Amino acid sequence: MVSLTGRLRALLMAVGLAQASLPALAETPAKVVATVASPAGNLAVRVELDGEGRPAYAVTRRGAEVIAPSRLGFLFTDAPKMERGFTLAGQSSRTVDETWEQPWGEWRTIANHFNELRVRLKEKAGAARELDVVFRVYDDGVGFRYEFPDQPQLKTARIADELTEFAVVRTGEAWWTPAGEWDSYEYIYNHTPLAELGQAHTPLTIRTDDGTHIALHEAALVDYAGMWVRRVDGQRLKATLSPSPIGARVVRQAPFTTPWRTMIFADSAGGLYQSHLELNLNEPNALGDVSWVKPEKFVGVWWEMHLGSASWATGRKHGATTANVRKHIDFAAANGIGGVLVEGWNVGWDGQWFGNGNDFDFRKPTPDLDWAGMAAYARSKGVNLIGHHETGGSVSHYESQLDAALDYAQGLGIPAIKTGYVTDDGDIERVEPDGTRLREWHDGQWMSRHYLRVVTEAAKRHIAIDSHEPIKDTGLRRTYPNWVAREGARGMEYNAWGDPKNPPNHEATLAFTRMLSGPFDFTPGVVSLTGKDNSRIPSTLAKQLALYVVLYSPVQMLADLPENYAKYSDALAFIKAVPVDWSDTRVLNGEVGQYATFARKDRHGEDWYLGSVGDDQPRTMTVTLDFLDAGRDYTARIYRDGPNADWHTDGHPMTVETRTVHQGDTLTLPLARGGGAAVQLVAGKGH
Ligand code: NOJ
Ligand code: CA
Repeated sequence: MVSLTGRLRALLMAVGLAQASLPALAETPAKVVATVASPAGNLAVRVELDGEGRPAYAVTRRGAEVIAPSRLGFLFTDAPKMERGFTLAGQSSRTVDETWEQPWGEWRTIANHFNELRVRLKEKAGAARELDVVFRVYDDGVGFRYEFPDQPQLKTARIADELTEFAVVRTGEAWWTPAGEWDSYEYIYNHTPLAELGQAHTPLTIRTDDGTHIALHEAALVDYAGMWVRRVDGQRLKATLSPSPIGARVVRQAPFTTPWRTMIFADSAGGLYQSHLELNLNEPNALGDVSWVKPEKFVGVWWEMHLGSASWATGRKHGATTANVRKHIDFAAANGIGGVLVEGWNVGWDGQWFGNGNDFDFRKPTPDLDWAGMAAYARSKGVNLIGHHETGGSVSHYESQLDAALDYAQGLGIPAIKTGYVTDDGDIERVEPDGTRLREWHDGQWMSRHYLRVVTEAAKRHIAIDSHEPIKDTGLRRTYPNWVAREGARGMEYNAWGDPKNPPNHEATLAFTRMLSGPFDFTPGVVSLTGKDNSRIPSTLAKQLALYVVLYSPVQMLADLPENYAKYSDALAFIKAVPVDWSDTRVLNGEVGQYATFARKDRHGEDWYLGSVGDDQPRTMTVTLDFLDAGRDYTARIYRDGPNADWHTDGHPMTVETRTVHQGDTLTLPLARGGGAAVQLVAGKGH
């Protein structure tokens, strides 16, 4: 029997048959087959099947529809699509209400309270395939995933694309970066009407005309292709999976589950950040005791390469020499900084490594570097080296050395490795066992396996991983707490050589977009405010300090040159003091792309730290210290933009003042153009 689709209807219209003469072709009304509400009842999901058996879900918030009926389903490369002809074969529900503890993070304890609905869909005809859709409804968001049950009629799923939709009801604006372009995630954010969205990465942040903030993303992206979203029409968005050179974008054996498709709903930008949906939808820690994962700050043989004054390649300008590494170890030890990143330490950087990493050897230091000696020297000073594995996108080559490379690092006592995948997106090199060369995307299924393989192999050796040019974060640090950070957006490096540099509102955008996915190795703290060729960085000095609080990572770099920190001792004092591990986090205010103020409490003490970042206009931030303990004195050391600070002319003027404050007091923080403020709130007087 032929289904009467919209296309056929359009055709009939086009050949002159009036709509009125076609009553039998009208859409059959959908029937609600299952519903589930959040624990407090403010969010609810309903599942519908229309007359053609097409499943859809819709979300209401406080009784009003926020996501209109949105389709579910799959296209396959070798089987009919799964999208219509379904019947409801069963449903079940349950509630979970628990708390769990993060080994490190922005919050020590996380509440996980949701109502779950599982619906089983079964095709009425044909192969009668079955598909489960599982919804978890929280008070601040919804996650759902597909589960392919074990069934003889669908053993291997070769997924050509996913048909999941997100139909946003109210008129909205969106902050997004393009997906499917050459530079994976490193774009300046677009801010457009939602109705002008192209093809975007997630997290995708939306604000609708009633002030509701929505973040679309995914959780637990494991052995699957990353989800992009593209606009179909109006404000109807549709998932599309990152491509694969083998045709099917995902190949999996049933039974298996897809990643969670997630939607956070909040009244403010800060509300999006405060949600724990992503972490909660990931599996618990799979590594057991992870006390060996140590949050730390680090310096690096790094910024000088981005400035062009040193090189990764060997020769006259080589940065990673024994003498220079020793200098950085001494600086770290003298300032209580835990780690020293060294880039360009190994063989392979001498040629064109962008997009070609086949010359890299991850066990061979360059001849001018006593790598083992420096690892031992670092240890003797209470510091550790952070190795760098730049792959140039030659991932099969890296995988061929991975075990040996990690063994080598472990043997030298190197507890953390930064990885890199510098190549155009879609140009990752994959070599098959028979020698066939294929090209992959950074977030395709094959790469999702690769990144996780590195993390799990590193975990066996008690090594933490900080991936640059990564696959996006989807909360997997909960399951694999040695995946401490990643890049996945424009970081500080763009302020060295970017054309253009990161705009002054970049960080206030990141706070409510990229940061919703997890820790970002942004590499803050360029106190010189100077990039390549003496170019000016769009930031004040106080803002560089604020970044340590606003942009969370358990590994935070002091990105500038040691000699520059010597020139800005006030700034260095704050950077030395600011923790990298927190027991609590509050977003005090924020508007996407305009400003953001965060307060975080030291995981290992009673002190609070506050960071505020703005954009390209002067602002005054008024914050109330209601998060402090009642009846307790706090010494506030305030680092704020000086009266003449302005990134366009001179971002350096900074006023540092100390006063005693209490719970409920108000701080007024002037932000200059490109400005920020940082405050250390030490419990007790007289500090
Ligand atoms: C890009 C990374 O983001 C950067 O931190 C690194 O220095 C270069 N690649 C070289 O690996
Ligand atoms: Ca990068």
